[in-house]
Amino acid sequence: MVARSDPYDELPYKSLPIEWAAPERLALASLLHGGPRQQLDAYAVLELGCGNGANLLPLAYYRRHATFVGLDGAGSQIEVANARRSALRLSNLSFVAADLADAAEQLSGEFDFIVAHGVFSWVPDEVRDALLELCARRLRPGGLLYLNYNSRPGWNLRGLVRDFLLAQTAGTTGLPTRAREAHDCSARVASLTADEHPFTQLIINEFRFVCDKDISFIAHEYLAAHNRPYWRSEFLDLVKGHGLDHVADADFSYDSGRSPEDLAHWLSEHKLTGRALDDTVDLLCYRQMHSPILARGPLNRSAPSPEEFANLLVASCLTPCTQNGGGSSMLQHPSGCLVEVTQEAVRTGLTELPAIWPRGLPIGATFPDVSRAMDELMLLQRNGLIELRCVEPGDFGVRGGPLNRLEARDGYITTPYHTCEAVSEQT
Ligand SMILES: C[S@@+](CC[C@H](N)C(=O)[O-])C[C@H]1O[C@@H](n2cnc3c(N)ncnc32)[C@H](O)[C@@H]1O
Repeated sequence: MVARSDPYDELPYKSLPIEWAAPERLALASLLHGGPRQQLDAYAVLELGCGNGANLLPLAYYRRHATFVGLDGAGSQIEVANARRSALRLSNLSFVAADLADAAEQLSGEFDFIVAHGVFSWVPDEVRDALLELCARRLRPGGLLYLNYNSRPGWNLRGLVRDFLLAQTAGTTGLPTRAREAHDCSARVASLTADEHPFTQLIINEFRFVCDKDISFIAHEYLAAHNRPYWRSEFLDLVKGHGLDHVADADFSYDSGRSPEDLAHWLSEHKLTGRALDDTVDLLCYRQMHSPILARGPLNRSAPSPEEFANLLVASCLTPCTQNGGGSSMLQHPSGCLVEVTQEAVRTGLTELPAIWPRGLPIGATFPDVSRAMDELMLLQRNGLIELRCVEPGDFGVRGGPLNRLEARDGYITTPYHTCEAVSEQT
């Protein structure tokens, strides 16, 4: 028997739904950053490098009003994806087995959203360029493209661990065996406690990170033939070459994507730009990954108007807390974080919401003066303390159906909000 040459056929990547890449979340990020507005009644989504469809299956299952196409070069993964699509009878989803390098002819039409998670950094430069060309050609004007990548300088340390693991396991054949060996070596390094030097601790933490990961992640992140981190300025230049501009980071309101509020402004004021302002922000945040949303340039940004903002929904699980010394009202997030809300009307509106969480209410119906409330609500959103939404995914369906039964075999379920929850047995 001839050995299969595709590493993703040899050891499939264990994919999960990507919460912040759900179309309505991309649309919200774009709106809040003044980017193109999306029409969410009906739309078309393309996912490149979709693997076994773990991201697209729940999107298509809950969002019957939209259509979805997934493309991947690993035939075994497309077989799994197609089997699951048939089991769930999803007529709004199709999969294509094709290499990105020559996929353009196998797709037709334009897409409102294109998503490629875990692809850009992990393919040779010529495939990356084909990916960009394909996206530029298939993204409809005003559409949104999500492309994540490993980022300098934070990923550089991970790259050093990769160099070590590649060398350490070089004599071993078979990707699964090699990945298990890389895991075991990392566990041995991570057990080293003799040296308390902060740099040693830093690198040992990276080895601990490897130990906590699934074998498929270790194989495709650390032992992959290609894994290239980019400076943000380098990435932005590359996409600009294909007529694409940066709108926002999809995870701008999550821990992974948040940068200190005034850092860029402070660096600029103090003329501490370095090679590029964005790169210096990433240097100081030690950024390891970016999840940018792009659109066809040049972008004409326009901030959301109070009317647009009033049409959004707000969901919150902040609960009232004690009054602080200054008389401002405090709310508490389930994480334990205490939140000061300066406007009484905002506080009153938010206290209606925990009872219906995770559902939200229209902002216009919840806050009497939307223009005044906007900035405070956006600040809470950026800090991950409330959720603003373009639509209510709770209306898309209920959890616990055939999709979740199928997913539970892999140890998780996806909700209509495209959040993922671990489960230990079938729901
Ligand atoms: C790291 S996995 C990411 C899978 C999924 N998007 C996720 O984030 O979980 C990369 C995927 O891209 C696909 N891929 C890599 N190079 C490709 C190529 N040249 N053409 C088509 N698909 C490719 C692989 O088969 C694999 O399924």
